[in-house]
Amino acid sequence: MDIIKRIHQLKKDRNAVILAHNYQVGPVQDIADFTGDSLGLSIQASRTDAEVIVFCGVHFMAETAAILSPDKTVLLPEKTAGCPMADMIDAEQLRALKEKHPDALVVTYVNSTAEVKALSDYCCTSSNAAAVVNSLPKDRPILFVPDQNLGAFVSERTGRDMILWPGYCPTHVWIEPEAVEAMRKEYPGAVVLAHPECTPAVRAIADELLSTGQMLNFIPKSKAETFIIATESGIIHTLQKMYPDRRFVKASKRALCPNMKKISLEKVLWSLEDMQHRITVSEDIAAQARKALKRMIEIVPSQN
Ligand code: 13P
Ligand code: SF4
Repeated sequence: MDIIKRIHQLKKDRNAVILAHNYQVGPVQDIADFTGDSLGLSIQASRTDAEVIVFCGVHFMAETAAILSPDKTVLLPEKTAGCPMADMIDAEQLRALKEKHPDALVVTYVNSTAEVKALSDYCCTSSNAAAVVNSLPKDRPILFVPDQNLGAFVSERTGRDMILWPGYCPTHVWIEPEAVEAMRKEYPGAVVLAHPECTPAVRAIADELLSTGQMLNFIPKSKAETFIIATESGIIHTLQKMYPDRRFVKASKRALCPNMKKISLEKVLWSLEDMQHRITVSEDIAAQARKALKRMIEIVPSQN
């Protein structure tokens, strides 16, 4: 039996669902039951009837699924697939920051550990961060962690001053404005779509600032033939599959997240065969983190 058939068979036997982020390699996205951005996948994880969730993404995403679906078995096919940005703030650092700003509300990007979410008032993703911040009382200071770039973008969109933690995504920071400009010269008339995790210099020259899910939804609204994509290049697979008549080019060859690329079809198969690697969160941390995640999902149930 070939690998794809074996995965389908095991999925049935185990009553499993496969969720894959838009940055996964093409074959993994193709085998998934759902692909999407962080918000879309969180919602899928909270709604599925399956007993097992195979999460093709990075550790914080599987952890989020485990928090939202405590009765399900959540598997991450590669246990070392982490997110360097999520590790740029830990619980001790956030506790110290909160002590310095006791009146502040904490808004935490889902790209964070369960312990950090547990100390937060709200979670957000790149597709709903501005809506979450807009829903907060105007007289409360806001601490935004861990991504300073997403935080600065949200400040610009909402007009709210926020205290930003100096974290960043290495993959998006590697996308340089010079590379974007060079692509614009090569493809005159192309539309530049950039992720809000990009640097201020890239955000300033982009035509649209969108989460990965929003990028997928944006294309039919535009008449452009060519799009320059300033985010992790895995999304080009999905874009090209959904819109075969349009052209999608990478803003930079360096826009690769090594952690997102650690999962392969073989690892998905082994994960289902061996029921590995199980991601769990202790119930006291999960209960606190769930509140922050649920507040996010309630504010904007489907901003995708
Ligand atoms: P979104 O898919 O929510 O846009 O997230 C981007 C990202 O960097 C996930 O790690
Ligand atoms: Fe983390 Fe950036 Fe990779 Fe997303 S693309 S998982 S934010 S390092």
